[in-house]
Amino acid sequence: MAETMQGLKRSHMVGELSAANMGEIVVVTGWVNSRRDHGGLIFVDLRDRTGLAQLVFSPEVDKDAFAKAERVRGEFVLAAVGEVRRRSAETVNPKLPTGEIEVYVTELRILNRAKTPPFYIEEDVDENIRLRYRYLDLRRPDMQRSLILRHKVAKAARDFLDRQGFLEIETPMLTKSTPEGARDYLVPSRVNPGKFYALPQSPQIFKQILMVAGMDKYFQIVRCFRDEDLRADRQPEFTQIDMEISFVDVEDVLNLMEEMVGFTFKEAAGIDIETPFPRFTYREAMDRYGSDKPDLRFGLELRDFTGMMANSDFKVFAAVAASGGQVKGINAKGCAHFSRKEIDDLTQFASIYGAKGLAYIVVNEEGLKSPILKFFKDEEIEAILHKFEAEPGDLLFFVADKPSVVAAALGALRIELAKKKNLIDPDVFKFAWVVDFPLVEYDDEERRWVAIHHPFTAPLDEDLKYMDTDPGRVRAKAYDMVLNGIELGGGSIRIHRRDVQQKMFDLLGHSEEEANEKFGFMLEAFEYGTPPHGGIAFGLDRMIMLMAKRDTIRDVIAFPKTQSATDLMTQAPSEVTPRQLQELHIKLNVAKTKK
Ligand code: AMO
Ligand code: AMP
Repeated sequence: MAETMQGLKRSHMVGELSAANMGEIVVVTGWVNSRRDHGGLIFVDLRDRTGLAQLVFSPEVDKDAFAKAERVRGEFVLAAVGEVRRRSAETVNPKLPTGEIEVYVTELRILNRAKTPPFYIEEDVDENIRLRYRYLDLRRPDMQRSLILRHKVAKAARDFLDRQGFLEIETPMLTKSTPEGARDYLVPSRVNPGKFYALPQSPQIFKQILMVAGMDKYFQIVRCFRDEDLRADRQPEFTQIDMEISFVDVEDVLNLMEEMVGFTFKEAAGIDIETPFPRFTYREAMDRYGSDKPDLRFGLELRDFTGMMANSDFKVFAAVAASGGQVKGINAKGCAHFSRKEIDDLTQFASIYGAKGLAYIVVNEEGLKSPILKFFKDEEIEAILHKFEAEPGDLLFFVADKPSVVAAALGALRIELAKKKNLIDPDVFKFAWVVDFPLVEYDDEERRWVAIHHPFTAPLDEDLKYMDTDPGRVRAKAYDMVLNGIELGGGSIRIHRRDVQQKMFDLLGHSEEEANEKFGFMLEAFEYGTPPHGGIAFGLDRMIMLMAKRDTIRDVIAFPKTQSATDLMTQAPSEVTPRQLQELHIKLNVAKTKK
């Protein structure tokens, strides 16, 4: 039944056909997007990766082809030979790039039949069904565009880095657990009973060792694996554009990366990017936006009232201010009309981030409305309005709490308000650098200092002196590139001195033994002449997601996993045979779950 391509050679992709091919005999192949039977004529929209074109079957042109076309159904695979003709004026389809022409078919081959698909290719269906039948989902023009864009971005980045003298070097996938912060995916070793490899969370240690090895400039477009809670912009396996450079400082890396991102966005997507990117210290980003990945597409900056509230009669605010907390607020411009219910909903929203309340002042032409007004003297109210630059029509919100809660709650509220008020222009790309992150933070649960970036990140030279006395105050030579409120990439200048690295491990509470066990090979390598070096890694999936204006990185990955880290098409992860387990010296201890 199914015919072959024997003796036929495709002459054009269907999306390439245009009025320029008028009169030519062409050979096209693809899938049946739709078929319309008009009695004497049959029309088939043929689809391939490049688009659609209309095939016309007429018994007057070829009886045989016409008869076959009557049997054709959606998603059948066809090859057609025919003549390109101009459509009559009234049948031109201006919505199709190939809409000026059609192909009058003189020979049709049905290369394969298809079952009726579980959904029409262009139909909006549940994501689980799309993931189960990913090969059909990927036939959608949208998905094809995403993957084509992905290819172009990777190619542009490669071209740029190649021209800059970077070498693409592969690093192992079966490796040793690295301290990147997330949980590792482990792979049991058959030939080394009881031992495990870890899949890399990133090539961090290897790329640094490549600098010791004199490779000078390394890059790799590389898969990374992290067993962490998944979100719209997180997958258990994802791809980094990973880089490391010798003999550089922060400034060199930031400048080169702006150039790379500018080139890549232009080359792959035709998007012009303004450089240099604005830079914020971590402190400044937290103060003004309540976030270390500020979305700069809108204002609504945070204002600080802590000093002003310390002596106020509003006990809640005064107590927080006196105990090292903060009182900060946002002026929701033009939101004075919000209903009581809307304000209650926002209060509920802020409480998700730990806020114990969301005080507010409504500013109207007639005056102010607020449950907290009674606590303040006239001049205090005056000062609040002044600081907020409040005008009639505004709604002022406050959160008082420890700084981390204030930042989280107001940072999230800021974005929520922008969405509610439609302040976000989806066509705008706002980049920023966030620099000078703290080197370490105290983990109350683990009761020890932990690295914010990773333990190889160098402290600022001028803060080195606080490493022993006041670690929380030490800033790092670490930087994140942020785009539209999403962390696109992050990196740092590394510690290249053995003694400073040892100090860092000491601070993190790794005993010398532990440090040796975990990274002894690295410390050893570092004793053989380590150049100053630094690098960065970009989340390729996130970059494409933002360029393609999709809401999740699943839409720009050919075969992604669900929120629960499963692959609905292959059904991975799956059970394995007792024999396989035995060879791996593994006994399962899984609590029986009800079937
Ligand atoms: P970091 O952990 O910040 O740095 O990762 C770099 C970038 O990778 C992306 N990313 C992810 N994307 C999708 N799913 C995930 N689960 C995920 N996790 C991270 C983000 C992030 O900015 N070795 C260091 C880099 C360096 O110091 O050079 C590293 O991996 O876009
Ligand atoms: P109360 O005096 O408890 O009725 O609180 C008066 C107002 O202050 C209410 O609108 C509360 O939501 C708000 N509020 C209470 N605690 C806080 C807090 N920690 N931060 C911001 N607002 C608060």
